[in-house]
Formats: sequence, structure tokens, C-alpha cells
Amino acid sequence: MNIKLTQTLPKTHTQKILKKEAKSKDAACLVVLIDDKKNILAESVLSDYQTRIEQLIEVSHFNGKACETVADYALAGDKKTTKENPVQLLLVGVGNVDKLRHSVLEKIAKTIYKSTQKRVDSITVALGDSLEESQFSQFALSLLAASYRFDKYKSEQQTPVLTDIYLLAESSLEDSLDFAQAVFTGQSLTRDVANEPGNICFPAYMAEQAQELAATYPDLLKVTVLGEDEMSALGMNCFLSVAQGSTKEGKLVLMEYRGKSNFSVNADAVTSKATTNSAKVAGGLKALADKLPTKAASKKAAKNADQNSEDNVQTTNDDAPIVLVGKGVTFDSGGISIKPGAAMDEMKFDMGGSAAVLGTLKALCEARLPINVVGALACAENMPSGEATRPGDIIIAMNGKSVEILNTDAEGRLVLCDTLCYVQKYYKPKAIIDVATLTGACVVALGYVRSAVFSNDEDVLFDLENASNLSGDLIWHMPMDDEYQAQIDSPIADIQNIGGKGAGAVTAACFLSRFIEEGQAWAHLDIAGTAWISGQDKAATGRPVPLFMQYLKNSANMA
Ligand code: BES
Ligand code: MN
Ligand code: ZN
Repeated sequence: MNIKLTQTLPKTHTQKILKKEAKSKDAACLVVLIDDKKNILAESVLSDYQTRIEQLIEVSHFNGKACETVADYALAGDKKTTKENPVQLLLVGVGNVDKLRHSVLEKIAKTIYKSTQKRVDSITVALGDSLEESQFSQFALSLLAASYRFDKYKSEQQTPVLTDIYLLAESSLEDSLDFAQAVFTGQSLTRDVANEPGNICFPAYMAEQAQELAATYPDLLKVTVLGEDEMSALGMNCFLSVAQGSTKEGKLVLMEYRGKSNFSVNADAVTSKATTNSAKVAGGLKALADKLPTKAASKKAAKNADQNSEDNVQTTNDDAPIVLVGKGVTFDSGGISIKPGAAMDEMKFDMGGSAAVLGTLKALCEARLPINVVGALACAENMPSGEATRPGDIIIAMNGKSVEILNTDAEGRLVLCDTLCYVQKYYKPKAIIDVATLTGACVVALGYVRSAVFSNDEDVLFDLENASNLSGDLIWHMPMDDEYQAQIDSPIADIQNIGGKGAGAVTAACFLSRFIEEGQAWAHLDIAGTAWISGQDKAATGRPVPLFMQYLKNSANMA
């Protein structure tokens, strides 16, 4: 879908329409927005159409309620009237103009797309100066997102007629529109990857997607993939305990986006040092299978890595990256604590967090934000088998903490906790934001509207909430008081992986917090209710890519 700003009304198609060979391909449509007081938005640029619009409102008893539509396209095709009315007209109600929140703008955008996609090849939406900048980008992104489809597995695909969208609005909105397009590109990748079934999208597939991206943007992106042997050498046993029941190898995918020139120097310094001293296990180089460390050697490697990180203690500086960590459970059967059958297919979306991180990295490459960002995709498949982790097993995480696994279905926090340890050690992040379809309890708390946010840092929280308001990709602040921590104390290990009855989303966040070092700014997003739409029309939403991109754009502006 092409989208452009324009300062002119659509060209007439009189000639073409009057000719016999005219096809619908030649048709254009002018979309006019009307509020519930029957005011025409962007009235000043529509004076040529004023009479026709007012007549149409009158004859159709149009009220301007949100998403109400009326069109006179029949008229436009009529030989007799075409001369005066060459362009098709679609009126779309927007309701109360003072209440054009994201959800309303999104519905209006979907309505516009649906009512025109099969009929005309281009539309011009008259906006004038009726939308604020943030509303404008939300609307532009919503129009683009409405054109997204995932029909590759259908024998017959429908190609829409509509190919071009023109937004009649101020030219100062150019940058906003470019940004919305970058976000759309990334968000579409997120949706594509998340919509893939589990037999196609497994950890190696996620790694390939990241590597393909690095090949497309070689100057901006570097990707490193750690397999199970490398993770084992690093002591990432919680992560591995999830992957071990599956025949598919777990992968930790590291994506380094260098928007600030000297970033690569820092990251390489940290990773290459670890590489030489810890048997080529971390970052950068492909690990050599034949040189892989034994158990004893890997303990030593871990020790060395520890010393490295002590040598490398850096204060937070401008070049330190923001690290995004995504849960990438490509299928969550629950493991030995197996899930009930109903809707278990939807657990293919359990990699939605890492799909969002992947898509955000792509959007960053498109938007070329001057900022350093690392994406870490924690990818594993959670399956039951003779090799699978049992309830009751005790596992030592990368930071040395012991975890009693009471329920193998609480696996997201296990792949995440080791990944959090890893990124703190090797990237010294300015801030970490992890994103995960982590708990059913989050869906109980917030439903499908807002993602939950938990944080130990007021600034990160403020910036995320601000980005939420600007992007319309909504979040809600949840508590993480120390008092909740007792729920995950284990009688025989340092921590247990479930918190019992009550506050399931909170105790999951508490679990992660145990792996965050003192002073490390961190936020956790639970997107269990927002990453996909459930039921018959099940589909990935691509959230929270818009939130992340707004947050990163603001961070780039502040730096
Ligand atoms: N991936 C699920 C969470 C989930 C469930 C997301 C439903 C979206 C819809 C997660 O791995 C999980 O199974 N969590 C358990 C945790 C419990 C065992 C403490 C849950 O929420 O039931
Ligand atoms: Mn689970
Ligand atoms: Zn899960």
C-alpha cells in the first residue's frame, strides 16, 4: 500500500469513465469526514464539493456517528451525472471530534479501507488540519494496518483494487507520515512471523528472520545467534530447561542496531572479550562445535565471564543501548504441566514478544533513529517428552540463583530470566524493557485493551506511559510491591516459578525482578491480552511495536 501526503483534491476521471473501456482501476474516491454535528472536517479545502456533500448528507439522513458511511459512487459512474460529479464520494462519520481517541481513529480507518478496497484504486482522505500530529500518525498507521492480510495458506488470494492512499493534509506532517510507514513495515513483520504456525515458526525460524534482516540492513544491524551449547556454557539453565523437552533447538537471538556511530565499538569490546575468555561462547563469532566446553570448562568459562563483566563495569553513558527482550516461546503446550486442549493452537502466538522486538528492530532500520538498541529474542518451544523438565526440578540460573520449577507451564519467565542476566552482563543497558505473553492472569486483569507495565524505574515508566498516550498503543501501570515477593519464595530453592493463588501477573513480574541487578532500569510488559486477537478471527496484532517505536523516537529526541 502506498500512502502519500497531498495538497490537492483527486483528479477527475471523467474522460476515462465516459470511455467504454474504462475499468474500476481508473476510479478515485474522495473520503470526507463528518462529525456528529454534521460539520465537515477539512471544510476549507473542500469548497468545490460543498454542495454535493451537503446534498448527500441530507438525502441519506446522514448523522455523522462514528463509522457511519454513505457513498454516491453509483452517481459517479452514471454517464449523465459524471460530468459534474466525476469523482466518487464517500462520507464517513467520526462522531464527536473531541473524542477521537486511537480506538475510534482505528475503527474509522478500517471502515474507510473496507468500503473502498474493492472498488477504487486510489482514495484521497480530506483531513485538512482537523487532526493533531499524534492523531494524524495514529490514523495513518491505522489505514496502513487495515490493509494487512495473512492469506499465504489460502489456495485463493484476493488482491485488493486499492493501491494508493492520499492524505489531504498539511505538508508539515511529512515526517510523521514517514515514521508511520516505518512503524507499519516493522509491525507487519511482527504480524507475519507471529501468525505463522508452530510447525513453521520455531526457534531456528526466528533466528533466520533476524539474520535476513541483518542482510537487508548490513550497515545498521548485526545479528548473533546462540544455540543450546553456547547457552549451556554460559549457565543459562533456566532457558535450557524450557527447550529441553522439544526436538527443536532453543536459540537466543541477539540483534544489535547501531544508530549511534560508536556503538558497535562498545558492544564488540564487551562481546569479543567474553568470546576469547569463555571458550567462544558469547556474541559475535560462530561458536565452534568441536571446541565446545565440557561441564567443568563451562563453569570456568562462566567464572571468566564474571570477571570480564567486573573489568567492564561502565557507568551509564549516552551510547549504552536500550535493550528490548522478547519472550519467544514458539509453541507453548505447557510441557509436562500440559495445557487443556481448547484453543491450545493459539499458543503459537506465545512468541509474540520476540516477534514485536524483531519488528521493532526492522522499524528502527526503516526509520533510522539515531539511537543504540539491542533486541534479544528468547526462543524455545515448550513441549512434553521424556527429556522434558518435571515439576519439582531445581535449576540454577545464569546468575547462580536456584529455581524450583513447580509448573512447567510458567516457562516464559524461565527463558526470560537467563536472557535478562545475559543482556545485563554483556550490554550494560541504559534501560531494559522485556515484553512477553506471560500470564493468563494479565488477561483477567486488563482484558484485550491495555498491556500491563511493571517497572522499577520512574523515568522509564513515565516515558513508556507518555509513548502509550502518543501512539494509542495503550498500557496500564501495575503494582510490584515487595509484599508480593513472598509468594515466590521456595522452601528448598531461592525462588519458585509460580506464585500460587492471586496476582498472577504481578508474581510473574516479581520473578523477573529477582534477576535484575541493583540500579538497572527495567520495565516488563505483559502482552498476553494484546498480542493477538483470540477466537475465530485469530490473528496477531503487531502490538506493542507502535508503543516501542514511539518510546524510542522520544528517547532519540531527548538524547
Ligand atoms: N503463555 C502463557 C500465558 C498465556 C495464557 C498468554 C493465555 C495468553 C493467553 C504462559 O506461559 C502460561 O502458561 N502461564 C501460566 C502461568 C501459571 C502456570 C502460573 C498461566 O497464565 O496460566
Ligand atoms: Mn506456559
Ligand atoms: Zn507461555
